[in-house]
Amino acid sequence: MKIGRFLFDLIRNSDILNPARRAIVRLLKKQFPGKESHMANVLNQSTVFSELRFSQVLAEEDEVEAKKHLPEYILSPLSVHYGPVKGFFLFVLRTFLSLLVVVFLRPRSRAGELDQKDVDKVYDKRAKHYDRDHHITTRGMDLSFRKMAAWLAAILARNRNGSVKILDLCTGTGEIPRHTKCISELLHVTVDVTGLDYNEHMLAIARRKRLNGFVRGDATELTTPKEGFVAFGENTFDGVTQVFGIGGISEPVKVFRGVLEVLKPRGTYLMIDMHRPIPELSGEMPFFGWWLKTPVLEAYIYEKTTLPLVLERLWGWRDTTMCFYLLPLVTYDDGLGQCWGFETQILEVESHRWWFGLPIMPVAKIVVKKVAISTEEAKARKKILQALCQQTCE
Ligand SMILES: C[S@@+](CC[C@H](N)C(=O)[O-])C[C@H]1O[C@@H](n2cnc3c(N)ncnc32)[C@H](O)[C@@H]1O
Repeated sequence: MKIGRFLFDLIRNSDILNPARRAIVRLLKKQFPGKESHMANVLNQSTVFSELRFSQVLAEEDEVEAKKHLPEYILSPLSVHYGPVKGFFLFVLRTFLSLLVVVFLRPRSRAGELDQKDVDKVYDKRAKHYDRDHHITTRGMDLSFRKMAAWLAAILARNRNGSVKILDLCTGTGEIPRHTKCISELLHVTVDVTGLDYNEHMLAIARRKRLNGFVRGDATELTTPKEGFVAFGENTFDGVTQVFGIGGISEPVKVFRGVLEVLKPRGTYLMIDMHRPIPELSGEMPFFGWWLKTPVLEAYIYEKTTLPLVLERLWGWRDTTMCFYLLPLVTYDDGLGQCWGFETQILEVESHRWWFGLPIMPVAKIVVKKVAISTEEAKARKKILQALCQQTCE
């Protein structure tokens, strides 16, 4: 026993193993060279943007203007570097997370077309357990996003003589209207919420919550009357909220344009959805006394699990990153000689801790206000948006 202990301490405290350790590491490095990976899928629409030669579609001064709206972190491909040891841990973690999703949430065997029909089918199937599944997969964070929308609606009411009209786009099972009712009662304000969704099954669950104001509508056709769908007039709402709604829509710019029309002047629009990881702002977490930054973990999981499995296969979702940069470029001419656009009030991207407290789910929030803009400003924004959309939106 004593001899064994002695030998163990000798080996542990001496350099005797170092050559062997070095040899093993050399061998591993040879077998599995460190990976410089371009996370192409993570960029999704942004990949196209990074390849976009602005000079081919825009004059020089417009190119300078375009770059003001599109930060470098979404134009350049996301590169991450990991060696064999990190690669192994990432692989194990990814396999474990994927297994959990497949076993407990049963996603589709492959991503569909992600068009309106496909997304509708996903929600037909998932409506029944939607609330439960979202609470579990987000570790309850969904409550905070929805309550943020509800607080915003109530505060808008307080700032506007105690009463507002709010449109909750892609309302799903009506959780935002439910929280809005509760918060507005606490603040003694009146918030008249219209919860709009495309999917009948989701709306049926919302209506069971004994709230009024749920309507079937198409977020891409907010002002155009269509059989079986509601339509609204210009300048109808004081606020519009859309929490995890834009990723299921293939023509997001149409939604933004409709929101701009139905909002009253100075009206507010809140949108929350997924955003590709930003390595410089990566998530951080405690690890046995250290405080670790996790850019590689985040990018790897986003690329290998979140996008293909959780978003595309489970929820019929896309990478919504570019939506946060296209939205402020959308404009509209009211036909009375006035142009309208959005003014960004808040933009925030943060890696949320949905899975086992790991900061691997980057979510963005944007709050914009409808403001009058000059014809020149509208023209400049339109030019950039059209140039970008030629490559991506259509
Ligand atoms: C992730 S879910 C709902 C999110 C909901 N806001 C929440 O917080 O739980 C997305 C919803 O968007 C709806 N949707 C998809 N495309 C739509 C469209 N074109 N118009 C309106 N709703 C749509 C789906 O039916 C689904 O209920």
